[in-house]
Amino acid sequence: MQRVQFSAFGTPEEVIESVEIDTPPPPGDGEAVFDVDAFPINPADLLTIEGRYAVKPPLPATLGAECVGRVTALGQNVSHIGVGDRVINLGRENWCQSKSVPAEQLVRVPEGIDPLQLAMLKVNPPTALLMLQKYVDLAPGDWVIQNAANSSVGQCLIRFARAGGIRTINVVRRQELVAPLTSLGADAVIVDGGDIADQVRTITGGAGAKLAIDAVGGTAITRLADGLTDGGTAINYGLLSGRNCEMTSHQLVFRQISLRGFWLVPWLTGMTAEEKESLYAGLAQRIADGQLRIDIEATYPIEDIKAAVAHARREGRKGKILVTPNGPLT
Ligand SMILES: NC(=O)c1ccc[n+]([C@@H]2O[C@H](COP(=O)([O-])OP(=O)(O)OC[C@H]3O[C@@H](n4cnc5c(N)ncnc54)[C@H](OP(=O)(O)O)[C@@H]3O)[C@@H](O)[C@H]2O)c1
Repeated sequence: MQRVQFSAFGTPEEVIESVEIDTPPPPGDGEAVFDVDAFPINPADLLTIEGRYAVKPPLPATLGAECVGRVTALGQNVSHIGVGDRVINLGRENWCQSKSVPAEQLVRVPEGIDPLQLAMLKVNPPTALLMLQKYVDLAPGDWVIQNAANSSVGQCLIRFARAGGIRTINVVRRQELVAPLTSLGADAVIVDGGDIADQVRTITGGAGAKLAIDAVGGTAITRLADGLTDGGTAINYGLLSGRNCEMTSHQLVFRQISLRGFWLVPWLTGMTAEEKESLYAGLAQRIADGQLRIDIEATYPIEDIKAAVAHARREGRKGKILVTPNGPLT
């Protein structure tokens, strides 16, 4: 079977390759084997290949933060899933055709939902949801401002905020994103670069946003935080510019703005199995109800991983790049 790996940190499409390895052995006690039907290429995967992610694995390394698959075999003492079940894997290293894992890592997800959407369920939807829910008390009518608003996280955030009556100001890099994000439910869309504070004052009638959600770092978060009300909270959750967050002393001291960091990993680690099941059941239900959908630009076979990774690194994509390791999904 095929598995993606890299033997040196570097430019993703140069160092990544799909190689032939043995299929997983029959599952042992408490284990499960599943076929991987689809996985997305996320910015964190690209950072991992570049050696810039939180975890720098020993080389050669495999990777892949998330996937959707189907259980093909179970070891003894596994009762929460069955052979044939559609599952997502909460563990990593998912860029392969088949995988053996401790069964407790697998969460069953419903049939009848687009598997490509389920492949993107683990990381970005809970990231958007938890950032909206866990840092600031937001009431209907409150404003949240975010950048990289057309990213998958950004799209989820717009949808979840709209469903809860929270209003969003969305900062993007391209004018052509204004219309699609507005039809997704964005209350306002701003193209980055100008005086964000001034625009936010106009949009919010002087109130400002209570929460700023930043995926970019550098001076992008400085501009975003200028749209906050005094005492507001800025959360950084991404490293898209490759630069450290810059906040001014004026923002921190005189305007009493707080800077927080979000990482999904400790949130998931801190949850019980039941809490995780409930989180993902709720998010899967949102897909089923039509409240959650992440745009997809292209899917690739695993053999074309170099082209897939190169595509995922392009600016101005209209959606995610996914790989279907066991053939196209109908
Ligand atoms: N902390 C966590 O636990 C956590 C969890 C999930 C995701 N994330 C982070 O969330 C961010 C978005 O992930 P995603 O999967 O939603 O992304 P995605 O769907 O792959 O989209 C990438 C986005 O990044 C934007 N972008 C790329 N480089 C940029 C730059 N230098 N300045 C401004 N925008 C830039 C792109 O804008 P254009 O369309 O204009 O190119 C696009 O909106 C990433 O940084 C990812 O690592 C963090």
